[in-house]
Amino acid sequence: MILTGAGISAESGVPTFRGPDGLWEGQRVEDVATPRAFRRDPRLVQTFYDQRRAALARVEPNPAHHALARLDALWPRSDGRDLLLVTQNVDDLHERAGSKRLLHMHGELKSAWCLACDSRMSWEGTLLDAPACPACNASGTLRPDIVWFGEMPYHMAVIERAISRADLFVAIGTSGNVYPAAGYVDLAREAGAHTLELNLDPSMTSPRFAESRLGPAGTLVPALVNDLLENR
Ligand code: OAD
Repeated sequence: MILTGAGISAESGVPTFRGPDGLWEGQRVEDVATPRAFRRDPRLVQTFYDQRRAALARVEPNPAHHALARLDALWPRSDGRDLLLVTQNVDDLHERAGSKRLLHMHGELKSAWCLACDSRMSWEGTLLDAPACPACNASGTLRPDIVWFGEMPYHMAVIERAISRADLFVAIGTSGNVYPAAGYVDLAREAGAHTLELNLDPSMTSPRFAESRLGPAGTLVPALVNDLLENR
């Protein structure tokens, strides 16, 4: 079971959330990543995510994403040693690298959610002043399919079941500030898994991992994947 955060996409040029200035792309998280912010200023929030979605065209997966896709392609599927990659990231770099056994627990920039009919759909362009919902034809009802603060992350039951059966839990490039993801290391330990963190700097959760390796994901992740595949 592998959990990734913003740090895995940093070397692709996607900014992490908690920079030294505490701002995310110049905005306070409370102004763009809460349901309240969306109610108060939908145009600001839609514009912010429209810009993040457009920015995906200017970035590429890095060696860490490619290594995890290689692991997915080569790791057994059906002999009880399965693999699950869970990302907190809303970019599409894992899927562009080729990962298949992948869940986005905080939603995806390239997905829209209709608040009228509850449909979710792939979305490439802007959501500000978007056309009517293709599923129900209501207008002005599409929002970014992103899990904002105060909302329930996606796929929780599947993720927790995978952790409860894991023999290895790896967290890559995540600061350990946001729950429930920050608590997965504890669930993994309770399940008896070896817990390994790969991060540029010590994180909030480092002391709770059995093993930490410090360095850039673009170097550490390919080395880990080589080890896992050699010792399979
Ligand atoms: P953060 O920005 O909080 O943390 C990124 C982590 O990656 C930090 O610990 C950095 O030290 C580390 N890092 C930076 N560059 C790295 C590199 N090249 N290699 C390895 N590690 C590196 O991002 P997350 O932990 O992902 O939620 O944030 C969790 C959630 O908070 C996000 O999913 C988002 C945010 O608010 C939502 O949008 C709901």
